[in-house]
Amino acid sequence: MTILQANQLTVRFGGLVAVDKVSFAVQPKEIIGLIGPNGAGKTTLFSMLVGLHRPTSGHVLFDGQHVSGKRPHVIARQGMTKTFQNTALFPEMSLLDNVTTAGLLRHPVREARALALDCLDRVGLRNIADVDVDSLTFPQRALGEVARALATQPRILLLDEVMAALTPLEMDTVIATLRELRDRDGLTLIVVEHHMRAIMRLSERLLVLNFGKLIADGTPAEVSVNPDVVAAYLGGEHARHN
Ligand SMILES: Nc1ncnc2c1ncn2[C@@H]1O[C@H](COP(=O)(O)OP(=O)(O)OP(=O)(O)O)[C@@H](O)[C@H]1O
Ligand SMILES: [Mg+2]
Repeated sequence: MTILQANQLTVRFGGLVAVDKVSFAVQPKEIIGLIGPNGAGKTTLFSMLVGLHRPTSGHVLFDGQHVSGKRPHVIARQGMTKTFQNTALFPEMSLLDNVTTAGLLRHPVREARALALDCLDRVGLRNIADVDVDSLTFPQRALGEVARALATQPRILLLDEVMAALTPLEMDTVIATLRELRDRDGLTLIVVEHHMRAIMRLSERLLVLNFGKLIADGTPAEVSVNPDVVAAYLGGEHARHN
């Protein structure tokens, strides 16, 4: 059964069509990469899926239910969460406190704390739960953001450039953890990342946005030879990100 369905989603900001009639369906336990040049509409699409933007037109079905126009915490309770591009964990708080905050979506403090420890365990950070975020390494912060999102107990998780600051080797660790979350916990993942090698390795399927339009939807092998994608993204100046 389809877990998420986007139908003709459109977001306008004044005269700018940031997301332009985008449709796709997501099956449970898929790992999907969402790529496209800067400004293509990736973050806006994520924001719309989790209720931070209302679509100008089109709609979103999550578990077969209409969620477009619902408030973010309602959609989060239903089981879809996103991380925030460029919004880090609270630096002056411990990792555990950061993750516990997210657990409060569904639980009182004691339970949220126990859940937070479990989420930290799942990303391999339980042993540093009490460390303040500002003394963590970049890969630890990335995994900490994943743990914070996990504490809302999502079934589908949207990750917006959590690996941006990482070296390729550090990315491999995060990628292994994300795959495990899918394999062991049955999570469905949609991942925005500019680093092509990382996204190709992680994803089983790629969605490509360009100027708000979905220009490709296929396996990494298919998409990487798609002439529209090569012209818009892979062959252009964005090849620098590789
Ligand atoms: N709140 C807003 N108001 C007006 N325009 C916006 C708003 N948010 C985004 N935009 C514009 O919408 C377009 C899509 O932006 P978006 O942030 O979704 O792109 P992106 O694919 O996530 O880019 P990046 O890879 O740089 O993160 C851009 O032209 C951006 O300037
Ligand atoms: Mg973005």
